[in-house]
Amino acid sequence: MNNFKNLRGTVDLLPDQLIKWQNVEKIIIEQLFRSSVKEIRTPILEMTELFMRGIGEGTDVVSKEMYTFLDRGERSCTLRPEGTASVARALIQHGILTRPSQKLWYMGPMFRYERPQAGRQRQFHQLGVEFIGYESVNSDIEIITLAWDILEKLGIKELNLEINTLGDHIDRSNFQKAFLKWLEVNKNSLDLDSQRRIDKNPLRILDTKNVQTKKILEDAPRLFDFLSENSIERYITIKEKLKFLKIPFIENFNLVRGLDYYTHTAFEITSGALGSQATVCGGGRYDNLISQMGGTETPAIGFAIGLERLILLCGNELEERRETDIYIVNKGVDAEILAIKLSRKLRNYDLISELDLSGSSFSKQFKKANKLKAKSIIIIGDDEVLKNQFIIRLFKNFSSENQEETISFDDDTKLDNWLNKNLGIKDLP
Ligand code: HAM
Repeated sequence: MNNFKNLRGTVDLLPDQLIKWQNVEKIIIEQLFRSSVKEIRTPILEMTELFMRGIGEGTDVVSKEMYTFLDRGERSCTLRPEGTASVARALIQHGILTRPSQKLWYMGPMFRYERPQAGRQRQFHQLGVEFIGYESVNSDIEIITLAWDILEKLGIKELNLEINTLGDHIDRSNFQKAFLKWLEVNKNSLDLDSQRRIDKNPLRILDTKNVQTKKILEDAPRLFDFLSENSIERYITIKEKLKFLKIPFIENFNLVRGLDYYTHTAFEITSGALGSQATVCGGGRYDNLISQMGGTETPAIGFAIGLERLILLCGNELEERRETDIYIVNKGVDAEILAIKLSRKLRNYDLISELDLSGSSFSKQFKKANKLKAKSIIIIGDDEVLKNQFIIRLFKNFSSENQEETISFDDDTKLDNWLNKNLGIKDLP
Protein backbone atom coordinates (compact mmCIF):
# COMPACT_ATOMS: atom_id res chain seq x y z
CA MET A 1 0.00 0.00 0.00
CA ASN A 2 1.18 3.51 -0.76
CA ASN A 3 1.65 5.81 2.18
CA PHE A 4 0.79 9.08 0.49
CA LYS A 5 1.73 12.25 2.29
CA ASN A 6 1.37 15.90 1.45
CA LEU A 7 4.40 17.56 -0.14
CA ARG A 8 6.99 19.19 2.13
CA GLY A 9 6.08 22.79 2.83
CA THR A 10 2.37 22.25 2.15
CA VAL A 11 -0.25 21.86 4.88
CA ASP A 12 -3.66 20.24 5.21
CA LEU A 13 -6.08 22.52 6.99
CA LEU A 14 -8.49 20.26 8.88
CA PRO A 15 -12.07 21.19 9.86
CA ASP A 16 -11.24 22.12 13.47
CA GLN A 17 -8.36 24.39 12.40
CA LEU A 18 -10.48 25.98 9.72
CA ILE A 19 -12.92 27.44 12.24
CA LYS A 20 -10.27 30.02 13.14
CA TRP A 21 -9.38 30.60 9.47
CA GLN A 22 -13.01 31.16 8.54
CA ASN A 23 -13.62 33.53 11.45
CA VAL A 24 -10.51 35.52 10.51
CA GLU A 25 -11.41 35.61 6.81
CA LYS A 26 -14.92 36.77 7.65
CA ILE A 27 -13.68 39.71 9.73
CA ILE A 28 -11.21 40.69 7.00
CA ILE A 29 -13.77 40.49 4.21
CA GLU A 30 -16.25 42.58 6.21
CA GLN A 31 -13.60 45.25 6.82
CA LEU A 32 -12.78 45.36 3.09
CA PHE A 33 -16.45 45.40 2.11
CA ARG A 34 -17.05 48.38 4.41
CA SER A 35 -14.11 50.19 2.83
CA SER A 36 -15.46 49.64 -0.70
CA VAL A 37 -12.58 47.40 -1.71
CA LYS A 38 -13.80 44.90 -4.33
CA GLU A 39 -12.67 41.32 -4.80
CA ILE A 40 -10.73 40.12 -7.82
CA ARG A 41 -9.84 36.50 -8.59
CA THR A 42 -7.04 35.73 -11.00
CA PRO A 43 -5.70 32.30 -12.00
CA ILE A 44 -3.22 30.53 -9.75
CA LEU A 45 -1.29 29.51 -12.84
CA GLU A 46 0.26 32.19 -15.07
CA MET A 47 2.85 32.52 -17.82
CA THR A 48 6.32 32.44 -16.25
CA GLU A 49 7.27 35.58 -18.16
CA LEU A 50 4.74 37.59 -16.16
CA PHE A 51 6.62 37.13 -12.90
CA MET A 52 10.06 37.45 -14.48
CA ARG A 53 9.09 40.82 -15.88
CA GLY A 54 6.87 41.92 -13.00
CA ILE A 55 8.84 40.86 -9.93
CA GLY A 56 12.35 41.04 -11.42
CA GLU A 57 14.73 38.30 -12.54
CA GLY A 58 17.35 39.18 -9.92
CA THR A 59 15.01 38.63 -6.97
CA ASP A 60 15.18 35.49 -4.86
CA VAL A 61 11.53 34.83 -5.61
CA VAL A 62 12.09 34.61 -9.36
CA SER A 63 15.61 33.21 -9.46
CA LYS A 64 15.26 30.54 -6.78
CA GLU A 65 11.76 30.06 -5.52
CA MET A 66 9.27 29.70 -8.34
CA TYR A 67 7.37 26.53 -9.13
CA THR A 68 7.91 26.60 -12.88
CA PHE A 69 7.21 23.84 -15.39
CA LEU A 70 6.42 23.26 -19.04
CA ASP A 71 2.82 22.31 -19.67
CA ARG A 72 1.81 19.74 -22.28
CA GLY A 73 1.88 22.45 -24.92
CA GLU A 74 5.51 23.25 -23.99
CA ARG A 75 4.54 26.62 -22.50
CA SER A 76 6.44 27.73 -19.42
CA CYS A 77 3.94 28.12 -16.58
CA THR A 78 4.41 29.20 -12.97
CA LEU A 79 2.31 28.77 -9.84
CA ARG A 80 1.91 32.35 -8.65
CA PRO A 81 4.43 33.34 -5.97
CA GLU A 82 2.45 36.53 -5.22
CA GLY A 83 -0.62 38.36 -6.48
CA THR A 84 0.37 41.88 -7.51
CA ALA A 85 1.74 41.00 -10.96
CA SER A 86 -1.37 38.95 -11.78
CA VAL A 87 -3.72 41.75 -10.76
CA ALA A 88 -1.74 44.21 -12.90
CA ARG A 89 -1.87 41.79 -15.83
CA ALA A 90 -5.62 41.28 -15.49
CA LEU A 91 -6.35 45.00 -15.39
CA ILE A 92 -4.15 45.74 -18.40
CA GLN A 93 -5.67 42.84 -20.32
CA HIS A 94 -9.24 43.92 -19.62
CA GLY A 95 -8.58 47.60 -20.19
CA ILE A 96 -9.87 48.66 -16.76
CA LEU A 97 -6.83 50.26 -15.24
CA THR A 98 -8.09 53.60 -14.06
CA ARG A 99 -11.61 54.24 -15.23
CA PRO A 100 -12.56 54.26 -12.48
CA SER A 101 -9.52 53.73 -10.25
CA GLN A 102 -9.60 50.32 -8.68
CA LYS A 103 -9.47 49.28 -5.04
CA LEU A 104 -9.12 45.50 -5.10
CA TRP A 105 -8.49 42.55 -2.80
CA TYR A 106 -7.73 38.87 -3.29
CA MET A 107 -7.13 35.94 -1.02
CA GLY A 108 -5.65 32.59 -1.86
CA PRO A 109 -2.69 30.26 -2.12
CA MET A 110 0.75 31.38 -3.29
CA PHE A 111 3.77 29.17 -3.96
CA ARG A 112 7.45 29.72 -3.20
CA TYR A 113 10.09 27.03 -3.04
CA GLU A 114 11.65 28.14 0.23
CA ARG A 115 13.07 26.16 3.14
CA PRO A 116 10.02 25.38 5.27
CA GLN A 117 10.02 26.42 8.92
CA ALA A 118 7.55 27.86 11.41
CA GLY A 119 5.64 30.61 9.58
CA ARG A 120 7.24 29.73 6.24
CA GLN A 121 5.68 27.30 3.81
CA ARG A 122 5.97 26.44 0.14
CA GLN A 123 2.24 26.77 -0.33
CA PHE A 124 1.02 29.63 1.85
CA HIS A 125 -1.89 32.03 1.71
CA GLN A 126 -2.09 35.76 1.31
CA LEU A 127 -4.68 38.44 1.58
CA GLY A 128 -3.61 41.09 -0.91
CA VAL A 129 -5.00 44.59 -1.40
CA GLU A 130 -4.10 46.74 -4.40
CA PHE A 131 -5.12 50.34 -5.07
CA ILE A 132 -4.59 50.87 -8.80
CA GLY A 133 -4.61 54.37 -10.29
CA TYR A 134 -3.95 56.07 -6.95
CA GLU A 135 -1.14 58.58 -6.80
CA SER A 136 -1.68 60.85 -3.84
CA VAL A 137 0.09 60.52 -0.52
CA ASN A 138 -3.32 60.00 1.02
CA SER A 139 -3.67 56.69 -0.80
CA ASP A 140 -0.41 55.53 0.84
CA ILE A 141 -1.95 56.50 4.16
CA GLU A 142 -5.24 54.78 3.35
CA ILE A 143 -3.44 51.55 2.40
CA ILE A 144 -1.25 51.54 5.51
CA THR A 145 -4.17 52.28 7.83
CA LEU A 146 -6.27 49.61 6.13
CA ALA A 147 -3.59 46.98 6.83
CA TRP A 148 -3.13 48.29 10.37
CA ASP A 149 -6.86 48.35 11.12
CA ILE A 150 -7.40 44.82 9.82
CA LEU A 151 -4.73 43.57 12.20
CA GLU A 152 -6.15 45.60 15.09
CA LYS A 153 -9.69 44.45 14.35
CA LEU A 154 -8.41 40.89 14.72
CA GLY A 155 -7.18 41.81 18.20
CA ILE A 156 -3.49 41.52 17.39
CA LYS A 157 -1.28 43.52 19.70
CA GLU A 158 2.37 44.48 19.80
CA LEU A 159 2.77 45.11 16.12
CA ASN A 160 5.53 47.23 14.64
CA LEU A 161 5.03 49.24 11.50
CA GLU A 162 8.30 49.88 9.69
CA ILE A 163 8.44 52.35 6.84
CA ASN A 164 10.98 53.51 4.32
CA THR A 165 11.07 55.27 1.00
CA LEU A 166 12.82 53.85 -2.04
CA GLY A 167 12.43 56.99 -4.14
CA ASP A 168 11.55 56.89 -7.81
CA HIS A 169 13.52 54.92 -10.39
CA ILE A 170 15.88 57.85 -11.10
CA ASP A 171 16.71 58.26 -7.39
CA ARG A 172 17.30 54.57 -7.13
CA SER A 173 19.50 54.25 -10.16
CA ASN A 174 21.66 57.18 -8.93
CA PHE A 175 21.99 55.50 -5.57
CA GLN A 176 22.70 52.14 -7.16
CA LYS A 177 25.63 53.56 -9.12
CA ALA A 178 27.23 54.99 -5.96
CA PHE A 179 26.42 51.86 -3.95
CA LEU A 180 27.97 49.57 -6.58
CA LYS A 181 31.16 51.63 -6.48
CA TRP A 182 31.27 51.28 -2.72
CA LEU A 183 30.53 47.55 -2.99
CA GLU A 184 33.45 47.08 -5.37
CA VAL A 185 35.80 48.45 -2.75
CA ASN A 186 34.20 46.66 0.19
CA LYS A 187 33.19 43.40 -1.45
CA ASN A 188 35.57 41.15 0.45
CA SER A 189 34.35 42.32 3.84
CA LEU A 190 30.77 41.22 3.12
CA ASP A 191 29.25 37.82 3.85
CA LEU A 192 29.07 35.38 0.92
CA ASP A 193 25.35 35.76 0.39
CA SER A 194 25.68 39.53 0.06
CA GLN A 195 28.65 39.13 -2.28
CA ARG A 196 26.51 36.98 -4.54
CA ARG A 197 23.83 39.66 -4.57
CA ILE A 198 26.14 42.35 -5.94
CA ASP A 199 25.51 41.40 -9.57
CA LYS A 200 21.94 40.21 -9.25
CA ASN A 201 20.18 42.43 -6.76
CA PRO A 202 22.49 44.82 -4.88
CA LEU A 203 19.71 46.69 -3.08
CA ARG A 204 18.79 43.55 -1.19
CA ILE A 205 22.19 43.60 0.47
CA LEU A 206 20.79 46.40 2.62
CA ASP A 207 18.29 43.90 3.97
CA THR A 208 20.93 41.42 5.19
CA LYS A 209 20.55 39.71 8.55
CA ASN A 210 24.32 39.16 8.82
CA VAL A 211 25.49 41.17 11.81
CA GLN A 212 28.98 41.90 10.51
CA THR A 213 27.77 42.97 7.08
CA LYS A 214 25.22 45.20 8.79
CA LYS A 215 28.01 46.91 10.68
CA ILE A 216 30.07 47.44 7.52
CA LEU A 217 27.04 48.80 5.69
CA GLU A 218 26.83 51.62 8.21
CA ASP A 219 29.51 53.37 6.16
CA ALA A 220 27.89 52.71 2.78
CA PRO A 221 26.12 55.46 0.83
CA ARG A 222 22.50 55.88 1.92
CA LEU A 223 19.61 55.73 -0.47
CA PHE A 224 18.05 58.59 1.44
CA ASP A 225 20.83 60.95 0.36
CA PHE A 226 19.98 60.33 -3.30
CA LEU A 227 16.29 61.12 -3.07
CA SER A 228 14.87 63.97 -5.10
CA GLU A 229 13.13 66.80 -3.30
CA ASN A 230 9.80 65.49 -4.40
CA SER A 231 10.53 62.02 -3.00
CA ILE A 232 11.67 63.45 0.32
CA GLU A 233 8.62 65.67 0.57
CA ARG A 234 6.38 62.69 -0.08
CA TYR A 235 8.07 60.71 2.62
CA ILE A 236 7.92 63.53 5.16
CA THR A 237 4.23 64.08 4.48
CA ILE A 238 3.54 60.40 5.01
CA LYS A 239 5.27 60.47 8.37
CA GLU A 240 3.32 63.57 9.39
CA LYS A 241 0.00 62.02 8.43
CA LEU A 242 0.78 58.78 10.27
CA LYS A 243 1.59 60.83 13.35
CA PHE A 244 -1.64 62.77 12.98
CA LEU A 245 -3.57 59.49 12.84
CA LYS A 246 -1.60 58.18 15.85
CA ILE A 247 -0.29 55.14 13.97
CA PRO A 248 3.06 54.35 15.57
CA PHE A 249 5.90 53.61 13.16
CA ILE A 250 9.62 53.03 13.00
CA GLU A 251 11.81 54.29 10.17
CA ASN A 252 13.97 51.54 8.73
CA PHE A 253 16.30 52.78 6.00
CA ASN A 254 17.33 49.21 5.23
CA LEU A 255 13.81 48.10 4.41
CA VAL A 256 14.02 47.40 0.67
CA ARG A 257 11.51 44.51 0.24
CA GLY A 258 12.20 41.39 -1.78
CA LEU A 259 10.43 42.31 -5.01
CA ASP A 260 11.79 44.74 -7.57
CA TYR A 261 8.71 46.73 -8.41
CA TYR A 262 8.62 49.10 -5.44
CA THR A 263 8.99 52.88 -5.66
CA HIS A 264 8.65 55.50 -2.90
CA THR A 265 6.80 54.07 0.10
CA ALA A 266 7.75 50.60 1.34
CA PHE A 267 6.42 49.20 4.59
CA GLU A 268 6.25 46.07 6.67
CA ILE A 269 4.34 45.13 9.79
CA THR A 270 6.12 42.70 12.08
CA SER A 271 5.43 41.00 15.37
CA GLY A 272 8.02 39.74 17.86
CA ALA A 273 5.60 36.91 18.69
CA LEU A 274 6.31 35.32 15.29
CA GLY A 275 9.97 34.40 15.87
CA SER A 276 12.33 34.54 12.90
CA GLN A 277 9.59 34.90 10.26
CA ALA A 278 8.32 38.08 11.88
CA THR A 279 6.77 39.91 8.95
CA VAL A 280 3.02 39.48 8.82
CA CYS A 281 2.39 42.19 6.23
CA GLY A 282 4.50 43.73 3.48
CA GLY A 283 3.67 46.30 0.88
CA GLY A 284 4.46 49.50 -0.88
CA ARG A 285 4.01 51.70 -3.88
CA TYR A 286 4.75 50.39 -7.38
CA ASP A 287 4.27 53.26 -9.80
CA ASN A 288 6.25 51.71 -12.67
CA LEU A 289 5.07 48.11 -12.61
CA ILE A 290 2.05 48.53 -14.84
CA SER A 291 3.81 50.53 -17.55
CA GLN A 292 6.70 48.08 -17.36
CA MET A 293 4.24 45.31 -18.08
CA GLY A 294 2.84 47.06 -21.13
CA GLY A 295 0.03 49.11 -19.60
CA THR A 296 -0.29 52.86 -19.48
CA GLU A 297 1.60 54.77 -16.76
CA THR A 298 -0.50 53.93 -13.70
CA PRO A 299 0.49 54.69 -10.12
CA ALA A 300 -0.46 52.02 -7.59
CA ILE A 301 0.10 50.86 -4.04
CA GLY A 302 -0.76 47.71 -2.10
CA PHE A 303 0.11 45.19 0.56
CA ALA A 304 -0.20 41.50 1.32
CA ILE A 305 -0.74 39.81 4.67
CA GLY A 306 0.52 36.24 5.14
CA LEU A 307 -2.49 34.36 6.47
CA GLU A 308 -0.54 31.54 8.18
CA ARG A 309 1.41 34.13 10.19
CA LEU A 310 -1.76 36.08 10.85
CA ILE A 311 -3.53 33.00 12.21
CA LEU A 312 -0.59 32.34 14.55
CA LEU A 313 -1.03 35.85 15.95
CA CYS A 314 -4.81 35.70 16.42
CA GLY A 315 -6.17 34.76 19.84
CA ASN A 316 -8.12 31.63 20.76
CA GLU A 317 -11.40 33.52 20.91
CA LEU A 318 -11.43 33.25 17.11
CA GLU A 319 -11.47 29.47 17.42
CA GLU A 320 -15.01 29.55 18.74
CA ARG A 321 -17.43 27.67 16.59
CA ARG A 322 -21.10 28.46 16.19
CA GLU A 323 -23.02 25.77 18.00
CA THR A 324 -25.59 23.46 16.50
CA ASP A 325 -29.10 24.84 16.93
CA ILE A 326 -31.05 21.72 16.05
CA TYR A 327 -30.06 18.07 15.95
CA ILE A 328 -32.51 15.92 14.00
CA VAL A 329 -32.94 12.51 15.62
CA ASN A 330 -34.83 9.94 13.55
CA LYS A 331 -35.27 6.20 13.14
CA GLY A 332 -36.75 4.09 10.38
CA VAL A 333 -36.77 4.36 6.59
CA ASP A 334 -39.84 6.60 6.40
CA ALA A 335 -38.62 8.76 9.28
CA GLU A 336 -35.31 9.29 7.51
CA ILE A 337 -36.83 10.67 4.34
CA LEU A 338 -39.11 12.96 6.36
CA ALA A 339 -36.04 14.08 8.32
CA ILE A 340 -34.27 14.96 5.08
CA LYS A 341 -37.35 16.86 3.94
CA LEU A 342 -37.41 18.81 7.20
CA SER A 343 -33.69 19.55 7.16
CA ARG A 344 -34.15 21.08 3.70
CA LYS A 345 -36.83 23.34 5.15
CA LEU A 346 -34.55 24.34 8.03
CA ARG A 347 -31.97 25.67 5.57
CA ASN A 348 -34.35 28.60 5.10
CA TYR A 349 -33.58 29.77 8.63
CA ASP A 350 -30.47 31.35 10.03
CA LEU A 351 -29.64 28.30 12.10
CA ILE A 352 -27.30 25.31 12.09
CA SER A 353 -29.03 21.96 11.90
CA GLU A 354 -27.47 18.54 11.79
CA LEU A 355 -29.23 15.53 10.39
CA ASP A 356 -28.40 12.18 11.95
CA LEU A 357 -28.37 9.53 9.25
CA SER A 358 -26.56 6.89 11.31
CA GLY A 359 -29.66 4.68 11.74
CA SER A 360 -28.45 3.97 15.28
CA SER A 361 -30.63 3.79 18.38
CA PHE A 362 -32.41 6.87 19.71
CA SER A 363 -30.23 6.87 22.81
CA LYS A 364 -27.05 6.91 20.73
CA GLN A 365 -28.40 9.76 18.64
CA PHE A 366 -29.30 11.71 21.80
CA LYS A 367 -25.78 11.19 23.06
CA LYS A 368 -24.40 12.65 19.84
CA ALA A 369 -26.69 15.65 20.15
CA ASN A 370 -25.45 16.07 23.70
CA LYS A 371 -21.83 15.87 22.64
CA LEU A 372 -22.43 18.57 20.05
CA LYS A 373 -24.13 20.72 22.70
CA ALA A 374 -27.10 21.10 20.36
CA LYS A 375 -29.55 23.70 21.63
CA SER A 376 -32.59 21.74 20.57
CA ILE A 377 -33.59 18.44 19.00
CA ILE A 378 -36.21 17.27 16.59
CA ILE A 379 -37.46 13.72 17.01
CA ILE A 380 -39.06 11.67 14.25
CA GLY A 381 -39.95 8.04 15.05
CA ASP A 382 -42.56 5.58 13.73
CA ASP A 383 -45.30 7.23 15.74
CA GLU A 384 -44.51 10.67 14.31
CA VAL A 385 -44.40 9.27 10.76
CA LEU A 386 -47.88 7.81 11.18
CA LYS A 387 -49.23 11.16 12.34
CA ASN A 388 -47.21 13.22 9.81
CA GLN A 389 -45.62 15.25 12.60
CA PHE A 390 -42.41 15.77 14.55
CA ILE A 391 -41.45 16.70 18.07
CA ILE A 392 -39.19 19.66 18.68
CA ARG A 393 -37.78 20.50 22.10
CA LEU A 394 -35.09 22.48 23.80
CA PHE A 395 -32.44 19.98 24.60
CA LYS A 396 -31.00 21.21 27.86
CA ASN A 397 -34.07 22.34 29.65
CA PHE A 398 -37.42 20.91 28.67
CA SER A 399 -39.27 21.24 31.95
CA SER A 400 -41.69 23.85 30.71
CA GLU A 401 -44.39 22.56 28.42
CA ASN A 402 -44.03 25.37 25.99
CA GLN A 403 -40.54 24.33 25.11
CA GLU A 404 -41.63 21.03 23.65
CA GLU A 405 -44.02 21.08 20.77
CA THR A 406 -45.48 18.60 18.35
CA ILE A 407 -45.73 20.13 14.92
CA SER A 408 -47.28 18.85 11.72
CA PHE A 409 -44.91 18.67 8.76
CA ASP A 410 -47.33 20.98 6.95
CA ASP A 411 -47.58 23.63 9.69
CA ASP A 412 -44.81 26.10 8.81
CA THR A 413 -46.30 28.85 10.94
CA LYS A 414 -46.10 26.75 14.09
CA LEU A 415 -42.46 25.88 13.33
CA ASP A 416 -41.72 29.57 12.71
CA ASN A 417 -43.23 30.52 16.02
CA TRP A 418 -41.43 27.85 17.99
CA LEU A 419 -38.03 28.74 16.53
CA ASN A 420 -38.62 32.41 17.10
CA LYS A 421 -39.81 32.00 20.65
CA ASN A 422 -37.31 29.42 21.86
CA LEU A 423 -34.18 30.03 19.81
CA GLY A 424 -34.75 33.64 18.77
CA ILE A 425 -34.41 32.58 15.14
CA LYS A 426 -36.24 34.08 12.21
CA ASP A 427 -36.52 32.69 8.71
CA LEU A 428 -34.15 34.22 6.20
CA PRO A 429 -35.48 36.82 3.77
P1 HAM B 1 5.84 39.73 0.24
O1 HAM B 1 6.53 40.54 1.29
O2 HAM B 1 6.68 38.88 -0.63
O3 HAM B 1 4.97 40.74 -0.60
O4 HAM B 1 4.77 38.81 0.95
C1 HAM B 1 3.80 39.35 1.81
C2 HAM B 1 3.59 38.49 3.03
O5 HAM B 1 3.31 37.13 2.64
C3 HAM B 1 4.82 38.33 3.93
O6 HAM B 1 4.94 39.45 4.78
C4 HAM B 1 4.50 37.08 4.69
O7 HAM B 1 3.61 37.36 5.75
C5 HAM B 1 3.78 36.25 3.65
N1 HAM B 1 4.70 35.25 3.08
C6 HAM B 1 5.58 35.42 2.08
N2 HAM B 1 6.25 34.27 1.83
C7 HAM B 1 5.76 33.35 2.68
C8 HAM B 1 6.01 31.95 2.92
N3 HAM B 1 6.90 31.27 2.21
N4 HAM B 1 5.32 31.32 3.89
C9 HAM B 1 4.39 31.99 4.62
N5 HAM B 1 4.10 33.30 4.43
C10 HAM B 1 4.77 33.97 3.49
C11 HAM B 1 4.21 40.40 -1.68
O8 HAM B 1 3.94 39.25 -1.96
C12 HAM B 1 3.66 41.58 -2.42
N6 HAM B 1 2.85 41.09 -3.54
C13 HAM B 1 2.84 42.47 -1.49
C14 HAM B 1 2.31 43.67 -2.20
C15 HAM B 1 1.05 43.83 -2.70
N7 HAM B 1 2.97 44.77 -2.50
C16 HAM B 1 2.19 45.61 -3.15
N8 HAM B 1 1.02 45.03 -3.28
